[in-house]
Amino acid sequence: MTDKKIIAVAGATGAQGGGLVRAIMADSGGPFTARALTRNPNSDKAKALAALGAEIVHADVDDASSLMSAFRGAHGAYCVTFFWEHMKPEKELAEARNLAQAVKQAKVAHVIWSTLEDTRKLVPLSDNRMPTLRGKYKVPHFDVKGEADGIFVELGVPTTFLVTSFYWDNFINFGMGPKKGPDGSLAITLPMGSARLAGIAAEDIGKCAYGVFKKGKDLIGKTVGIAGEYLTGAQMAASLAKALGQPVRYNEITPEVYRGFGFPGADDLGNMFQVDRDFEKEMCGARNLDASRSLNPELQTFEQWLTKNKGKIPIE
Ligand SMILES: NC(=O)c1ccc[n+]([C@@H]2O[C@H](COP(=O)([O-])OP(=O)(O)OC[C@H]3O[C@@H](n4cnc5c(N)ncnc54)[C@H](OP(=O)(O)O)[C@@H]3O)[C@@H](O)[C@H]2O)c1
Repeated sequence: MTDKKIIAVAGATGAQGGGLVRAIMADSGGPFTARALTRNPNSDKAKALAALGAEIVHADVDDASSLMSAFRGAHGAYCVTFFWEHMKPEKELAEARNLAQAVKQAKVAHVIWSTLEDTRKLVPLSDNRMPTLRGKYKVPHFDVKGEADGIFVELGVPTTFLVTSFYWDNFINFGMGPKKGPDGSLAITLPMGSARLAGIAAEDIGKCAYGVFKKGKDLIGKTVGIAGEYLTGAQMAASLAKALGQPVRYNEITPEVYRGFGFPGADDLGNMFQVDRDFEKEMCGARNLDASRSLNPELQTFEQWLTKNKGKIPIE
């Protein structure tokens, strides 16, 4: 029996939650231990977390009663939803509500809600610079997370609102890595103009979240925006070229062209990059690099992340 306080982590086998579980378990002298929530306790990823000493508990964000049991007895909870699993904003909102109600019922003392901006506050639906999607969103996977902030507030959940950033890991896992053009040379394609994009190593999100739990009650009710660096498309291409040892160009396109790529979610991401481009000051300004580093002294720059991860970037 441990006297450590339990942090229950949704998405524990994923990028954000996994980083948090590893950060908690790496600090063996620290005040917390991790409870990893997963739909499949027998998966290799769950077993890897168990091997670090984390408790593994079955839970599904679509099953409110599983969440209630999973959060019982926890001091802290990391709440994140998984838009790209289903790409349905209303379903994501219902999942956020399930999480908020469960942590409320379990009387969890400190909750982190992994959120993003409701971009409709920057670009009202009447603003025609980008299409309105599904009748009521500009960037569905951002807007619902921002909207869900209100659920945590409304229920009186002691919450820190953690505003995350674009994962550099998207160059590995999300099909955004450098691609070969007809002339055989590599390019990354983004509709960012010359604006800077707030980015972060996905692993650092969990480490920053761990810093939030360690700071504790001073951060309850606060919004904390995190990023590792703000970089232009040209800067990211230059760093990729250096890491990969071959030229990588920044292929700058318009958001219209990006939306037209037609893969599932291209319209959502085209609008997202357009918000990042047109509201660079607000989007970067909402993510403080010094505050991120004070939460996580190991915060990586893009070049540090590339040194560790360049071998995983698929070159197509
Ligand atoms: N990619 C980016 O640049 C970026 C940036 C900021 C924010 N985000 C947001 O990050 C969120 C996803 O977080 P992530 O990247 O950490 O996720 P992830 O790496 O895709 O992993 C998600 C994990 O969540 C679990 N999961 C999926 N559906 C679940 C369900 N119904 N109930 C319980 N667990 C479920 C899965 O674990 P099991 O199979 O073990 O249950 C999976 O391992 C998205 O909403 C996205 O919008 C992404």
